[in-house]
Amino acid sequence: MWSNLPLFPEQASTVAGSVDALYMFLVLVSAFFSVLIFGLLLYFAIRYRRRSEAERPVAIYGDLRLEFLWIVIPLGLTMVMFVWGAKVFFHISTPPTEAIEISAVGKQWMWKFQHPSGNREINELHVPVGRAVKLTMSSEDVLHDFYVPAFRVKMDVLPGRFTTAWFEATKTGSFHLFCAEYCGTVHAGMIGQVIVMPPADYERWLSGDGAGETMAETGAKLFEQLGCHTCHSGQPDARGPSLTGIFGRAVTLQDGSRVQVDENYLRESILTPNAKVVEGYRPIMPTFQGQISEAGLMQIVAYLRLLSGREGSMN
Ligand code: CUA
Repeated sequence: MWSNLPLFPEQASTVAGSVDALYMFLVLVSAFFSVLIFGLLLYFAIRYRRRSEAERPVAIYGDLRLEFLWIVIPLGLTMVMFVWGAKVFFHISTPPTEAIEISAVGKQWMWKFQHPSGNREINELHVPVGRAVKLTMSSEDVLHDFYVPAFRVKMDVLPGRFTTAWFEATKTGSFHLFCAEYCGTVHAGMIGQVIVMPPADYERWLSGDGAGETMAETGAKLFEQLGCHTCHSGQPDARGPSLTGIFGRAVTLQDGSRVQVDENYLRESILTPNAKVVEGYRPIMPTFQGQISEAGLMQIVAYLRLLSGREGSMN
């Protein structure tokens, strides 16, 4: 509906319509009150201008009905904005469970993507149309921001933790990808394309260039190379807890508290192992800070999800 307006980018995702509708509502409410206030200001300034030196206005001591009115109307309007905004926000921050999981790493100054099947790409992201895609993102250096205007998707990409974003493209074609957080000299050049293809073409693309071992397979190799399997062997007398089946579940820590095992918990446990030690185990795990890349972390997480039968179905 708004695509004819050059002010708005094309709508090419399932959430674009609801984001624009909310945005339009905010603009219209703001425009209405701006016009009303400036109009009245001007009108009153002329209508009640001082006509002679001797003129003294009548004192006014307020009006309860007026006070009531300008409390109730803004309250009602802001509550509509709040409830409507919260609804849209929860929708766009909750990826559907059947989403395809793709990892994204931002660095000065490029975007690196890896598909579950192992395909990697730089500054280009191929996705199928009509399927939800969830991105798990992190940065190798500074703050970046993943922004695809046509999808109304914008999410900070941070060093030191995973953030997620999701979208479902509704049109095939090529859409601009921007970095929306100033990140250094070539920030403006940190751009790319999201290429939305019919599902069959996407499958063909996956099996073509760059197909090799899956993310989880690479993760399994890393798990061995780094020696994780020596302690997390799954044996009853192992020095570390078994990692099979833990993803998506809650574990009890030494202090009795419970945490949900998700991407960020696994990340913390690899890089800062003693932050949250599972009940019944000692804080003996060394840190792997500096020994594993952002992409490597995502691959190990993909492997641990596979061990839990939760590949591509977690949020
Ligand atoms: Cu990356 Cu701006």
